[in-house]
Amino acid sequence: MTTVPALEIRDLRKTYATGVEALKGISLSVAPGDFYALLGPNGAGKSTLIGIVSSLANKSAGEVKVFGVDLHAQRSQAMRLIGLVPQEINFNMFETPFDILVNYAGFYGIPRAEAVVRANQELARAQLSEKAKTMSRTLSGGMKRRLMIARAMMTRPKLLILDEPTAGVDIEIRRGMWKTLKEVNAAGTTVILTTHYLEEAESLCRNLAIIDRGRIIEQGPMKALLAKLDVEGFLFDVDGALPATLPDIPGATLVATDDHTLDLEMPREMDLNRVFAALAGAGIRVRSMRTKSNRLEELFVRLTGQPEAAAASEKRA
Ligand SMILES: Nc1ncnc2c1ncn2[C@@H]1O[C@H](COP(=O)(O)OP(=O)(O)OP(=O)(O)O)[C@@H](O)[C@H]1O
Ligand SMILES: [Mg+2]
Repeated sequence: MTTVPALEIRDLRKTYATGVEALKGISLSVAPGDFYALLGPNGAGKSTLIGIVSSLANKSAGEVKVFGVDLHAQRSQAMRLIGLVPQEINFNMFETPFDILVNYAGFYGIPRAEAVVRANQELARAQLSEKAKTMSRTLSGGMKRRLMIARAMMTRPKLLILDEPTAGVDIEIRRGMWKTLKEVNAAGTTVILTTHYLEEAESLCRNLAIIDRGRIIEQGPMKALLAKLDVEGFLFDVDGALPATLPDIPGATLVATDDHTLDLEMPREMDLNRVFAALAGAGIRVRSMRTKSNRLEELFVRLTGQPEAAAASEKRA
C-alpha cells in the first residue's frame, strides 16, 4: 500500500451555474501504470470530470490528487504531470506538425534544443516523421488524431488523459490509435480515457468506472466486471451440415445462426464439457469456437438501462 495512486479522486462534486449537478460525489483511484476507462452514456459527467482533473473547470467540492500532488493546493505542479488530449482537434491547421510540437513544448518552458529532440521522437512514434514539415491541414483524420496524442506527450506526462479520443473516427483509424496508446502505456505512462465504445474499453483497459448521471455505478477490474455477468455466450463454427433438430442442453440455449454456425448461451458456472458431449452425441463436429464479445454491452445496458452505448458500439462497423 505504499504506492501513490496516479490519480485519486474523493467525493468530487460539480454543480454548474445553471444548477445542473454534473458530478454527485465521485470517488476513484487509478494506480500508476494503469490503463483506465471512464465509460458512460451522453451527459454522464465524463467530460466534466476530465475538465476538473485537467484544470479546465473548477470543482464544487471534493479532492483531486495527481501522484499525490493536490490539484487545488499545488495546481501548477499537478498540471506538469498531466497530458491532455481533448475531444476536438484544436491545433493550428496552418502550422506544420513539427512546429506544433516544438511551440507547445515552448509554452511549458522546455528549451528549444530539447523540444526539437522530443518532437522528432514523438513524430516517429506517431508515424508522422514524413509529414513533419507539411501543413497540418493536409493530414488525414487519423494523422491529426495521432498528432494530438504526440503533442500531449511532449511534456513527458506521467498521466495521459484522453476525452473520447476516437469519437466519430472509423474503425481502422481507431485501431491505429489503440496501438499508439498501448505503446504509450507500455512505456510507463498511466492512461485514462473516456469512451462510449465498449469495444474500446474492453480491448484497451485493465480497470474501469461506469458513470451514469454524475455517479459511479460500477468500478473495478474489467475482468471482474465481466465475471459479474452470469450468462456467457459462445459461437461455434461447425464442420458439415447441421442435423434437423439440435440437441437439447438443459439450462442452455442453442440456436443455429446459419447452416454452419451455432450460438450458445449458458450459465457461467455450467461445464462446457456437457455442451461438447451433447454436440458430439448429435454428430456435430465443432471446428472452432469464439466468445461472443457483447458481454460488456449487456452489463452496461443492465446497469444504466440505456442502450445508446450499445448503439454507438454497433455504429462503428
Ligand atoms: N459548461 C456547462 N454548463 C452547464 N452545464 C453543463 C456544462 N457542461 C456540461 N454540462 C452538463 O453537465 C452534465 C454532464 O455533462 P458532461 O459533458 O460532463 O457529460 P459527458 O459524460 O462528457 O457526455 P458526452 O458523452 O455526451 O460527452 C450534462 O447534463 C451537461 O448538460
Ligand atoms: Mg463528454
